[in-house]
Amino acid sequence: MTEQRVAVVTGAAQGIGAAIARELAADGHRVVVADINLDGATAVATEIGGVAKKLDVSDPEQVAAFTKAVVDELGRIDILVNNAALVPFVPWDQLDFTEWRRVMAVNLDGMFLMTKATTPVMAAAGYGRIVNIASNTFVAGTPNFAHYVATKGASIGFVRSLAGEVGKDGITINAVAPGLTETEGVLGSAHNEGFAYVLPAQAFDRKGLPADIAPAVAFLASEKAGWITGQTLVVDGGHTRN
Ligand SMILES: NC(=O)c1ccc[n+]([C@@H]2O[C@H](COP(=O)([O-])OP(=O)(O)OC[C@H]3O[C@@H](n4cnc5c(N)ncnc54)[C@H](O)[C@@H]3O)[C@@H](O)[C@H]2O)c1
Repeated sequence: MTEQRVAVVTGAAQGIGAAIARELAADGHRVVVADINLDGATAVATEIGGVAKKLDVSDPEQVAAFTKAVVDELGRIDILVNNAALVPFVPWDQLDFTEWRRVMAVNLDGMFLMTKATTPVMAAAGYGRIVNIASNTFVAGTPNFAHYVATKGASIGFVRSLAGEVGKDGITINAVAPGLTETEGVLGSAHNEGFAYVLPAQAFDRKGLPADIAPAVAFLASEKAGWITGQTLVVDGGHTRN
């Protein structure tokens, strides 16, 4: 690789996004750590020599301004990782339309807006790597997350469809579907109790960590993965096997 590539990772202030940012930086990329939490993003960016930006992926104006700022400052966007998401544990009888829309706005609208804003930049360069962070809950059909699981299935459908349109521009788009992973978000929710059910089903008797997920993302974001597109890679310690 002759020039340093620029990678944007959304929701990278903590958890899986932060691990992906660290992995991409270790691979030699300049990483933009984008998050609604600027303090957290700044801490990660400082650690990895990246750039922190405050961004709400569900806001069209913020996404447009963010993309312009990255291109103005760094000149390119080669890699986009759509990682930012809300992961709320809500039983069906408590799930109302407001909560449904809130999760659609971040998980789905955010993925759409970021991808829509970034593909023209990649197409102009004739190169791009997009990785959506989906979830193995789409494979497992995990209960108490109906709206969330619906967004993760949609993100896989999006990848399958868009791959055939952006390939002509040298862009690949794939999904990585993690299993239950010990992140700040999971530790702070009822989701954390899921390890009791998930561990016996895995091939390995330990909890998944963000660092277990990041290398798969980095591979799909690499030049070497150029013949892989429209695919979903499940990274869950063997919990689900599809
Ligand atoms: N942790 C798991 O068990 C697990 C399993 C499968 C998939 N995933 C997926 O991995 C990704 C990361 O999960 P995590 O557990 O690390 O989450 P987390 O809750 O620990 O972190 C999410 C990050 O996204 C940021 N964020 C939230 N809304 C945002 C917005 N509107 N704009 C920008 N940033 C925003 C938060 O500030 C936070 O830094 C998500 O897409 C999630 O669905 C997680």
